[in-house]
Amino acid sequence: DAEEDLLPRAPIVTIMGHVDHGKTSLLDYIRRTKVTAGEAGGITQHIGAYQVTTEAGKDITFLDTPGHEAFTAMRARGAKVTDVVIIVVAADDSVMPQTKEALNHAQAAGSPIVIAINKVDKPTANPDKIREELAQLNVLVEEWGGKYQSQEISAKTGQGIDELLEKVLLEAELLELKANPDRRAVGTVIEAALDKGRGYVATVLVQTGTLEIGDILVAGSHYGRVKAMTDVLGKRHKKAGPSMPIQVLGIDGAPQAGDKFVVMETEREAREIAVSRQQL
Ligand code: GTP
Ligand code: NA
Ligand code: MG
Repeated sequence: DAEEDLLPRAPIVTIMGHVDHGKTSLLDYIRRTKVTAGEAGGITQHIGAYQVTTEAGKDITFLDTPGHEAFTAMRARGAKVTDVVIIVVAADDSVMPQTKEALNHAQAAGSPIVIAINKVDKPTANPDKIREELAQLNVLVEEWGGKYQSQEISAKTGQGIDELLEKVLLEAELLELKANPDRRAVGTVIEAALDKGRGYVATVLVQTGTLEIGDILVAGSHYGRVKAMTDVLGKRHKKAGPSMPIQVLGIDGAPQAGDKFVVMETEREAREIAVSRQQL
């Protein structure tokens, strides 16, 4: 829509790779050092997505998906939420079946890939061997004349992680990611569950528009009025704009990961859509 006012939005990044190559450790390191920065004592709760701000003041949204299955499930539902994929390969191991699968997923989705060669703090680390194995798969890193950006990192010491984030931002800049914050929100459910104290809690990613307290949304076969929104630190928000992951309270059930959500004009419309989907 040419009349829409598009503004730059933060890239949405997923981390994939073989079992135990360090995906969670990398996410944890970034979350610890970037999300809680300046909020000493801030308690991070589990949330399937969070946003960080780099030293250069750029925002990046990370999706903490449990890996390939969730990614595949989301893609099967037509949810293309990831802009850039980081593929983690442990330098003390090898390019493994799940590394190849991750490469295939990212390539099939058309997402730019940044390779993170992890665990370089280990004495047995051999990053050259990893670059060689990647080259055999036609994934040639830039240092070797290829098109893939890569970075040696340690999710343990933090070595190389700022550089990795810079490379992710470089890929993102090429995509010229934009969205219109000035419309009713549309986005995707990342995860949802029943919380004993709070009722159903859905972590959603706003992709376009701005979600606000009081909005009536339909997500999959569930609906409700947004009662409260909290971020990864448990901080409350009145609004969530494009690329913002946020926990939403007020939905009458748990939609599935990958379900789209939309904001409706009236509760009646929302209920009708939700009910008709329940009958499918
Ligand atoms: P799955 O979710 O099970 O697929 O594993 P993962 O990829 O999330 O790996 P995880 O972060 O759980 O790390 C696996 C093991 O490697 C843990 O014992 C980590 O402490 C260790 N580890 C991860 N990154 C590093 C690193 O950079 N250096 C060292 N020395 N150990 C690491
Ligand atoms: Na693990
Ligand atoms: Mg993990």
